[in-house]
Amino acid sequence: MSRFEALKKGDQAVYEAVQSEVRRQNDGIELIASENFVSRAVLETMGSPLTNKYAEGYPGKRYYGGCVEVDKAENLARDRACALFGADHANVQPHSGSTANLTAYFSVLDPGDKILGLSLAHGGHLTHGHPVNFSGRFFEVVPYEVEPGTERIDLDRVRALAKEHRPKLIVAGASAYPRVWDFPAFRDIADEVGALFLTDMAHFAGLVAGGAHPSPVPYSDIVTSTAHKTLRGPRSGFILCKEEHAKAVDKTNFPGMQGGPLMHMIAAKAVCFGEAQRPEFRDYASRVVKNAQTLAESLLEEGFRLVSGGTDNHLMLVDMTPKGISGKKAERLLGEVEITVNKNAIPFDPKPPMITSGVRVGTPAVTTRGMGPDAMKRIARLMGRTLANESEDDTVKAAIRAEVEALASEFPLYPDLVDERVEA
Ligand SMILES: Cc1ncc(COP(=O)(O)O)c(C=O)c1O
Repeated sequence: MSRFEALKKGDQAVYEAVQSEVRRQNDGIELIASENFVSRAVLETMGSPLTNKYAEGYPGKRYYGGCVEVDKAENLARDRACALFGADHANVQPHSGSTANLTAYFSVLDPGDKILGLSLAHGGHLTHGHPVNFSGRFFEVVPYEVEPGTERIDLDRVRALAKEHRPKLIVAGASAYPRVWDFPAFRDIADEVGALFLTDMAHFAGLVAGGAHPSPVPYSDIVTSTAHKTLRGPRSGFILCKEEHAKAVDKTNFPGMQGGPLMHMIAAKAVCFGEAQRPEFRDYASRVVKNAQTLAESLLEEGFRLVSGGTDNHLMLVDMTPKGISGKKAERLLGEVEITVNKNAIPFDPKPPMITSGVRVGTPAVTTRGMGPDAMKRIARLMGRTLANESEDDTVKAAIRAEVEALASEFPLYPDLVDERVEA
């Protein structure tokens, strides 16, 4: 019997899309740094009837009846998040990382207030103050950048900018920064200029949970995050904060920003936080970082350049300039052999954002599959061969694709979720 029997009967078109996507995930090598593969427990919880429940408000204080059971799930999620990260308070209702940031900003800022955040072009996120995003439209933004040469954040420069512009909020965290953050130094800078300090740990939350990255929690007024990247939970966000901001954060989230919380996702976040509390998760987090280091070294051996020379965390930015191709072309060529990456600007990139000079590569998903250093070396060689295939020879591509599929099949992902045959 198909695992998707009802869907297959009820909606053939969506069934086929789901089947093909599961196949794609099973057969390929996923190197997108912000993606991961959830456990079966998280998957089941997301697909549970908790999706049916309206529960505006918070546990014990809802605007709807029948919330006893979902209250239990939300309390578990809140308590586990606080225990996992050592936080005073957790709000587990944000639908995504972006709405978590929106809520966090409006909890402590007024429109027009000033934010200091890492520029998108240097690895920051849209929600850290890009002009096209709500963050850049509602707030006055002063971006900081990485340094030419080292391609790392220079804290003296951040301090100087903070002193010059006196922001109300300083934001740490990024989508494409391969180095560890110095949270105590950011805290000092914030204190020096009387600013609040927020860390968006969306990317490295799982590494923090697993002890493979310093924690921003003791040093930040507010910490925002997604659950679905290194933390390996459902696609969603959450906020941690000091007790003094708890009321403002909760009130801004609801009724300020959102309506009914997604109770199936909140329950799945509880499952994810529970998984991350286990010793196996510490082992996972350290393997993610070790794999990233092995992959980085192997890519250097293949003649790629890495932004800042390497990585301290789960991701690296691979500069394609020495190979004479753009990030866009590299993404396409790798995609054709079922290695999935995303094009990404490198700092001071001369190419436009839709072309870019680089690709971002990360190890959370392949590590979840059980791959280790040996597989990382094989992946780097496969990437090297793919991007050296200048003539775009289809026979070469087919041979590499077969090797990619063979490697993936050594580390089964969701074998029982794909039916033998997708009917046309
Ligand atoms: C640092 C950071 N913050 C926030 C987000 C936004 O998360 P979401 O896509 O869930 O809105 C991302 C997503 O890539 C991110 O990298």
